[in-house]
Amino acid sequence: MNLRGIHIIALVLLLGIVWAFVTAPPPLPAEGERSEASGPMIPIERVFRTIAAENDQVRALYTAEIVGAGKKVGLAFDEDWEDDDVQAGPLPALFLRKAADSIAASSVPLRLFLGSHFPIKSTNAFKGEQVGRFEELLASGEAQFFLDPESSRHTAMFPDVASAAPCVTCHNEHPDSPKVDWKLDDIMGATTWLYPKGEVSEAEFLEIIGVVRAGFRDAYRAYLAELESFAERPSLGERWPAEGFCLPDEEAFMGRFSERASAATVDRLIRGR
Ligand code: HEC
Repeated sequence: MNLRGIHIIALVLLLGIVWAFVTAPPPLPAEGERSEASGPMIPIERVFRTIAAENDQVRALYTAEIVGAGKKVGLAFDEDWEDDDVQAGPLPALFLRKAADSIAASSVPLRLFLGSHFPIKSTNAFKGEQVGRFEELLASGEAQFFLDPESSRHTAMFPDVASAAPCVTCHNEHPDSPKVDWKLDDIMGATTWLYPKGEVSEAEFLEIIGVVRAGFRDAYRAYLAELESFAERPSLGERWPAEGFCLPDEEAFMGRFSERASAATVDRLIRGR
């Protein structure tokens, strides 16, 4: 090979090296830096609205298609559902409590509870700043967002409405209920979320949604685990109580939830509402 040939090969090699350098992905920033660097921060109010909408979807799905339809085919739901001698599933409020416990046990500092001015369970009463804010929610019917001075937590309250007759009858007839004249469409309480920061990165936003969904899954999983002690067990699989004495397995339940909730959530992620 003559000198000219060697020269051309050297150039081609050099080009190859330059090309590889140009097209290589930039080095990944260290964990932690990445979230902040990758995009704008998201106000916590948007995060709260997103997870509240997800909670509304799972609550409606569980209340109507598991509890409502389940009762018609002989499934029972009870406040003492976790007792060994009670063969029943969780009431909607206790499904939410299970999800809240799972969220509290995660590494994300998000908290969730269902409070009221007239609670069946006294620990569900609002406290401090929440009391006045719930009055405002009752007067306006609008969700409330504020920084709680005592806990330094950003707080969101969303109305929990008596949307079906059983909400009213069960609470009015309950021996521990301090209020016995609830009516349909009354605001019975507020789903209340707390988070320490006023804004989060996109990565944190996704992590929060993940933890909330894991909470719903854990709550449903706890119900399915309880079934094992039942004398008469509904069949588990793809079928729902509307189709007979059966229950969707975890995958089927979370699948239907995701079908209903995901479009709105993705929309919020993309469009920044
Ligand atoms: C079969 C009975 C039953 C039904 C149906 C029912 N609840 Fe409850 N609810 C309870 C019990 C019992 C508690 C207390 C659970 C606990 O925290 O131990 C509760 C808790 C609550 C709380 C928290 C404050 C409190 O009272 O302790 C709210 C708010 C609430 N329910 C609203 C609703 C709404 C809205 C519906 C209908 C969508 C509904 N409930 C359906 C029995 C019921």
